[in-house]
Amino acid sequence: MLNLLLSTITLAATATAHCTRPQLAEAVDTYLAAQVSGQTPAFKARFDNSTWLGYFENNKKVDINTGILNKALPITHNRTIYDTTACVTYTEVIVNSTTDPYVLGTQLKFANHKINKVDSIVTKPGDWLFNVTGYAYWVTQEDWSEIPTEKQDARDTIKKAADAYLDLFNAPNTTVPWGTPCVRLEGGLYGDPGPNGTCAVGVPSGVPIGNRRYVVDEIFGAVDVMVEFGGSKWPDTHEFRIVGGKIRYVHTMTHCGTPNCGV
Ligand SMILES: *[C@@H]1O[C@H](CO)[C@@H](O)[C@H](O)[C@H]1NC(C)=O
Ligand SMILES: *[C@@H]1O[C@H](CO)[C@@H](O)[C@H](O)[C@H]1NC(C)=O
Ligand SMILES: *[C@@H]1O[C@H](CO)[C@@H](O)[C@H](O)[C@H]1NC(C)=O
Ligand SMILES: *[C@@H]1O[C@H](CO)[C@@H](O)[C@H](O)[C@H]1NC(C)=O
Ligand SMILES: *[C@@H]1O[C@H](CO)[C@@H](O)[C@H](O)[C@H]1NC(C)=O
Ligand SMILES: *[C@@H]1O[C@H](CO)[C@@H](O)[C@H](O)[C@H]1NC(C)=O
Repeated sequence: MLNLLLSTITLAATATAHCTRPQLAEAVDTYLAAQVSGQTPAFKARFDNSTWLGYFENNKKVDINTGILNKALPITHNRTIYDTTACVTYTEVIVNSTTDPYVLGTQLKFANHKINKVDSIVTKPGDWLFNVTGYAYWVTQEDWSEIPTEKQDARDTIKKAADAYLDLFNAPNTTVPWGTPCVRLEGGLYGDPGPNGTCAVGVPSGVPIGNRRYVVDEIFGAVDVMVEFGGSKWPDTHEFRIVGGKIRYVHTMTHCGTPNCGV
């Protein structure tokens, strides 16, 4: 009887188990190690080849063996958020170099506790407002620490805040939960970090934002959304810090292929 009970509990636990933060963190470490060394075998050993969806850079499926991961980059900053419900992570990576700078955003998707999709936005000089010195500095000025359990927002609240912000670009009457202060870091350009800093500074209209891929982390009050930005479908990532249901930080990386997206 006890055995039966125990095996039932084990089955139930297995059926409801998604991912754990330590498991996801361990895999992210192999991603970072690959990027630092330019060597991918140990990272590839984490792949679930039976459900493999692909390696993507700037929204294009490319051969991993020709990708940025094969270039050893001296990473100077990394920060990851973990979605243990959807089994996906997002990592912000900065290479604060005077000669070959990068700012990268990477989502890793998991199946069977292994990686089955790599989705990166790769930005460098020439991309939207790119300024690695600015990016590297401002991230050190922000608070992305864990939010106490009793103050954490629900997954849906966090996701809806991000969607409201992205919807605004194509539906001007969208109600966005602006926080105060709220600051945008776009490519390296920072908004007003003062106590009254606001992100409600107006956005262009008629800009649909599609193909949204989410990573939601209740503990960090964070959500990343990788998208196709506007009619030109620019590869882009928007990461948000949500506190008490309100938007406090927005980090964007946009690759458009033409200097500053031709603007
Ligand atoms: C998945 O396939 C790649 C080759 O494309 C290989 O390098 C890697 O070791 C494989 N991963 C596993 C877990 O078998
Ligand atoms: C990533 O950041 C953590 C601390 O936030 C640090 O301990 C770790 O060494 C960093 N990894 C790399 C590859 O830079
Ligand atoms: C890059 O950002 C830094 C820090 O905010 C700023 O001092 C510098 O003027 C910026 N560079 C350009 C070219 O905008
Ligand atoms: C980024 O690199 C520049 C140039 O080496 C350096 O002056 C600056 O302090 C670095 N920023 C950070 C946050 O480390
Ligand atoms: C927002 O505007 C659209 C037309 O642009 C309209 O169809 C919709 O009903 C409006 N929504 C609200 C909540 O006002
Ligand atoms: C922020 O706004 C408050 C209330 O409107 C005002 O009293 C205060 O002077 C403002 N602070 C700054 C630095 O602008």
